Order: sequence, then structure tokens, then C-alpha cells
Amino acid sequence: MNILQINSSIRAETAHSSRLADSLVGKLRRRFPQARLTVRDLAKMPHPVLDAAALAALSTPAEQRTAEQAQRVALDDALIAEIQQADRIVIGAPMYNFGIPAQLKAWIDAIARARVTFRYTEHGVEGLLKNKKVYVIQTAGGVHSGSAADSQTVYLRTVLGFLGMEDIEFVYAEGLALGEDAVQSALQSAEAKISALAA
Ligand SMILES: Cc1cc2nc3c(=O)[nH]c(=O)nc-3n(C[C@H](O)[C@H](O)[C@H](O)COP(=O)(O)O)c2cc1C
Repeated sequence: MNILQINSSIRAETAHSSRLADSLVGKLRRRFPQARLTVRDLAKMPHPVLDAAALAALSTPAEQRTAEQAQRVALDDALIAEIQQADRIVIGAPMYNFGIPAQLKAWIDAIARARVTFRYTEHGVEGLLKNKKVYVIQTAGGVHSGSAADSQTVYLRTVLGFLGMEDIEFVYAEGLALGEDAVQSALQSAEAKISALAA
């Protein structure tokens, strides 16, 4: 059993999403003591964005890549290997300007690779990252879940599902900019959901 924790908040150790992800991972590790944990902090070690040079490197056959192109593809390969090996994936996803952090988008751009993590068949698209359980810890200053302002839930469900990860649980900690009482209440309800999910 392998657990992969993805943190994407730029607020380092004070981030609620990372702390709640830590809490869930801690509970999962108590439940599965043999589990191996990999933590990838996308803010501390940002992954390069998908740009024209990266796309050219990915589109070039491996044996024809320059050393620089091979290095760029290897960065994505490492993230793909991590998620291929993971059985449970815990993603900390704060809301920034009504979307996921750019760092988390760069991770998604890296792991979505045709013929490796998804493929097109005569029957349609097939996601190749199968048999995984995903937990998304979504934090926000306001309260948006269930409304049109929450594009994060729809987006993550869509793109992770496209890659084969359809078993996804969302944990919300919202209203984190609405005062201390709201913060305490949001964290309590998120922790209650985390305990239920890890049981
Ligand atoms: C750059 C930035 C943009 C933000 N944009 C939004 C937003 O669009 N909607 C919202 O509800 N909260 C927004 N917030 C508030 C964060 O979602 C909130 O502080 C949350 O706790 C951040 O997650 P974290 O504690 O894991 O860092 C924003 C915060 C930052 C720093």
C-alpha cells in the first residue's frame, strides 16, 4: 500500500489544506501501518509549467531528444511514476482566485500523458490510473461548495476521472476568511469527515 500526499498551498506549514491532509494521512497510516508515504509539496518544489518547449520535448521520440528535452520529460516521468505506484492519494487543494493553485495545475499537466495515463480507444477514452482512491481537501476563504463558484470540485472530478481515478472523496474546509468562529467550525467539520473517511 502506497500513499501519495500532494500539497499545493503556498502558505507552507500554516496552510489548512496541508495540515488537514497531514491529519488524513496520519489516520490512514494508523489504519495501514505498512503503508509507504511519499509527500510531494508543489509549492516548496514547484513543477515547471507545460510550455512550448515542454510540449516539443514530449512530442519528440525519446531517442531523438536533446539532453535538455530528456531532462524536462524526466521531471514529468517522476510524477507519473509516483502516481502510478500510489494506491491512495491525498491532495491539498486551496482555492486561489476561484480555481486550483497554478502549482497543482502544473502537476495535473505533468501526469496527464496520452498512451501512459489515458488513451483513446475505439470505445472512447480510457483512464489508465486505475484502482486508486483519491481524497481532495479543499480549502477556501469563502463558502462555495455546491455553487457555480466552486469550479474546483467539477474540474478535479473531471480531470482525475478522465485519468481513471473515479473514486474521489472531497473534504471541505470553507469560510476560512470569515473569522475565528467560522475557522474553528470549518476545521471541526473537516476533521469529522476525515475521521469518518479514514475509519
Ligand atoms: C492568492 C489567494 C487567492 C485566494 N482566492 C480565493 C478565492 O478566490 N475564493 C476564496 O474563497 N478564497 C480565496 N482565498 C482564500 C484561501 O482559499 C484560504 O486562505 C485558504 O485557507 C487557503 O488554503 P490554505 O490554508 O491551505 O493555504 C485566496 C487566498 C490566496 C492567498
